[in-house]
Amino acid sequence: PSRIFSGIKPTGHLTLGNYLGALRRWAREDQYAAESLFCVVDLHALTVEHDPARVRRLSRQAAGLLLAAGLDPEVCTVFVQSHVDEHARLSYLLECVASDGEMRRMIQYKEKSARAQRGGQGVRLSLLTYPVLMAADILAYRATEVPVGEDQAQHVELTRDLAVRFNQRYGHVFAVPKATLPAVAARVMDLQDPATKMGKSHDATAGIVYLLDEPEAVARKVRRAVTDSEPGVSYDREARPGVANLLEILATCTGKEPEVLAASYEGIGALKADTAEAVVELLRPVRERHAEISADPSYVDGVLRAGAARARELARPTVDAAYAAIGLLPPA
Ligand code: TYM
Repeated sequence: PSRIFSGIKPTGHLTLGNYLGALRRWAREDQYAAESLFCVVDLHALTVEHDPARVRRLSRQAAGLLLAAGLDPEVCTVFVQSHVDEHARLSYLLECVASDGEMRRMIQYKEKSARAQRGGQGVRLSLLTYPVLMAADILAYRATEVPVGEDQAQHVELTRDLAVRFNQRYGHVFAVPKATLPAVAARVMDLQDPATKMGKSHDATAGIVYLLDEPEAVARKVRRAVTDSEPGVSYDREARPGVANLLEILATCTGKEPEVLAASYEGIGALKADTAEAVVELLRPVRERHAEISADPSYVDGVLRAGAARARELARPTVDAAYAAIGLLPPA
């Protein structure tokens, strides 16, 4: 890859799903593989009912967690989306190559707009245009790879379509990116409801492991995971989603294949106990580093300031080129 971009939305406390689907890979592999940028996408947090003070707090916390997870500001760029105007500027241009029907077909839009309506809240227009802003995040940097969990794959596909369409109509401005998904745990499921994704903005928290949970809470949530009443342990995502979820989580912690792990367990109790311990150990260093990092907010602020400066430098020429290509009169 020549450039890597990914982002995380500060709509709730980060979860084990975010970590295994995204953050951990960013820190272990992606940041070293190419020039890379990792963004706290705060504008995206405004697409649903929100509390301003909470979004601000969660944005800083997410930035601290990216660093705690091992992103090295000497190696990659860590920044906040709203600090770089180019995202919003480009988003508008992309709205002019995207169609209404295309947006309404997005799975997350269907799910989240239904949820907002059920909750008696209006559907914000920004929820509909959200994937266009996400495309702008990626295309502004001419990113070629986008490391995400499975739930974002459709948005990255849309980003590709918009890039190709813009380039064909107005001249070659954008690189056409592709999503890179983790081999295992691309979709970590809720421990209480293995038919649903583990998501940071869910209300019921018993099935969600948060990166900053106390070790005892992490262990308890994993040990109480809902599985099934079949005897023994086998890896079958369709038939045994709860067990498969635990096997995948343990697989990412140990580097072993879920099938191999399944064969090595007689009963679910032992699988739960080992998975609980593995997750506690996986998250321990992240939580400890986060405590150190957040003790000095000026450190995080400094990283974000430098990150925004670098990001602006990279995005500006591409977004200016898109403005010119689409027919806007350059300022004299
Ligand atoms: P967000 O904030 O919901 O999630 C951040 C990353 O975590 C992954 N993820 C998961 N992976 C596996 N299992 C899960 N249960 C799980 N839950 C979340 C997500 O796939 C994602 O990679 N729209 C994006 C943020 C975004 C973005 C971007 C990403 C905005 N602009 C540009 C990449 C490039 C989102 O809501 O992610």
